[in-house]
Amino acid sequence: MAEQLDIIEGTKEERYEALLPQIASVVEDETDTIAKMANVAAMLHETFGFWWTGFYRVKNEQLVLGPFQGPLACTRIKKGKGVCGTAWQEEKTIVVPDVDAFPGHIACSSASRSEIVVPVFENNQVVAVLDIDSAQLNTFDATDQFWLEKVAALLCPKQ
Ligand code: SME
Repeated sequence: MAEQLDIIEGTKEERYEALLPQIASVVEDETDTIAKMANVAAMLHETFGFWWTGFYRVKNEQLVLGPFQGPLACTRIKKGKGVCGTAWQEEKTIVVPDVDAFPGHIACSSASRSEIVVPVFENNQVVAVLDIDSAQLNTFDATDQFWLEKVAALLCPKQ
């Protein structure tokens, strides 16, 4: 496994394209989910300079805070609540261009302006969500969704 992230520059698409194989190499030899999520959060956060990048894991019918980079965050989210709980319930990625326009958005940080939440599946069940917040409006689009769904798939290869 590489112990250092290669410097990644270019367009968003080019950066995701360069980052994905590095993420694959970091997760392929590791079996511990927390360790994998910790490095994935770090790599995404460092490459794109997001405001908050991390995971919530499904535990006892709630989402519980997992590995992340960025400021303090709420620790538990119920199914159907906020962007994370909605992505879990609907089992699909949710792109939020403006968090103030998303009914029920949970504001862990008042600086967060836009967000994307991508479910992580194992055996067709949502076992976690990847949540990324930006301090700018309209940060995330179909390109982020496309690549971040590939990142989520790398975390749980047995599908
Ligand atoms: N905004 C999220 C809560 C988690 S924080 O952004 C880290 C939501 O509405 O589910």
